[in-house]
Amino acid sequence: MTFLALALARRWWRLTGVPALSFSSTKTFSMGATEEQFEEAKKKLSSLKKDPGNDVKLQIYALFKQATRGPCDAPKPGMLDFVNKAKWDSWKSLGSLEQGEARRRYCDLIGSLAAAEGGSSAPPADGGGYDCLSVSSRNGITTITFDRPAKKNAITTQMYEEIIDALGRAARDGSVITVFTGAGDYYCSGNDLSNFTKIPEGGVEQMAKAGGELLRRYVKAFIDFPKPLAALVNGPAVGISVTVMGMFDLVYATESATFHTPFSQLGQSPEGCSSYTFPRIMGYGKANEMLLFNKKLTAAQACQLGLVTRVFPDRSFRSEALSLLEGYARLPPDSLALSKRLIRSGEKERLHAVNDAEVERLMERWTSEECFNAVMSFFQAKAKL
Ligand code: COA
Repeated sequence: MTFLALALARRWWRLTGVPALSFSSTKTFSMGATEEQFEEAKKKLSSLKKDPGNDVKLQIYALFKQATRGPCDAPKPGMLDFVNKAKWDSWKSLGSLEQGEARRRYCDLIGSLAAAEGGSSAPPADGGGYDCLSVSSRNGITTITFDRPAKKNAITTQMYEEIIDALGRAARDGSVITVFTGAGDYYCSGNDLSNFTKIPEGGVEQMAKAGGELLRRYVKAFIDFPKPLAALVNGPAVGISVTVMGMFDLVYATESATFHTPFSQLGQSPEGCSSYTFPRIMGYGKANEMLLFNKKLTAAQACQLGLVTRVFPDRSFRSEALSLLEGYARLPPDSLALSKRLIRSGEKERLHAVNDAEVERLMERWTSEECFNAVMSFFQAKAKL
């Protein structure tokens, strides 16, 4: 979106607010959230205090229209009608998404925004509250949701700590399977690049050392996780959210999800044990296309290469994938955990060694000019928009 369109969209939100956008009619839908949950989400939206950002507001608008009217049937606004064009584009981008699914995504999105403000949402497992995650436990499944939709769920330093903590709790809670997914349209955009801009007193070296230790603990939490671990990849996945997938036991993806590890573009190198797991999963050539040459895979390609277990249509992704997982979660828990241990134990030591080597390399990369220039150009490009 151009700067002008963004500025106008901002003005449109300030003047009217999405809650006022024809939120008058509701229908009864065959699947997704209930009528009451939808009404509740609409109320929550009008009580949000923080501005969620233009992209999220446009998503809210589009999901509401799709849920209540179905696929975009409005005439395309003229090129200079920036605000209505941005709204129309957002609605149109949902294509033929089923109305019930749009209503469910709408409720999820508002729920995650409310949770981020400390409002009511599913309570975290064991009662712990997080700023950048939402955690819920039900039907034998603990779900950890990356919950910074306005930043495409990029992982901040705090969020790394929260995920390590949430994994520790999930390992100990009564659930059978642990699931990661993302709030909003992204699964996760990887490491939050602003982590590199917060230079401590000890300088870049200290930043790299602290970052390295945090990364080591983060990846270790995945290597050592004792229960079946699944990813519900609801949209694009970037960087470390992709590289750790080699340690997941199941990766279910919606058909429009993508998988991207642009390390060399950022002057960096692979992590999450991907330098070991990716060649094992897909062979050196295909792994190199991803890890060295930044090739972005579609869900279908990732499935063909074995990184993704199964792909589902966008319109029914969550309901189909969850109903499979809920079935799995009814299997005997000890049998599942012990079988996972058998499958993984042979490579655990190796994974820890790979993690150490990757962290060492990255600590060096983070202090390099190549990395510095790449991060600066990301933020400079943003500043120009
Ligand atoms: N680190 C920091 N901020 C990020 C981010 C990341 N990894 N991913 C997204 N964001 C922020 C953007 O800066 C933007 O913030 P703003 O609203 O304050 O400007 C917001 O999230 C929305 O992202 P935006 O870039 O406007 O959305 P988009 O749809 O045009 O592009 C991405 C989405 C993910 C393709 C793009 O943000 C991107 O390339 N991010 C970096 C991904 C990356 O390199 N990750 C590390 C891999 S090793």
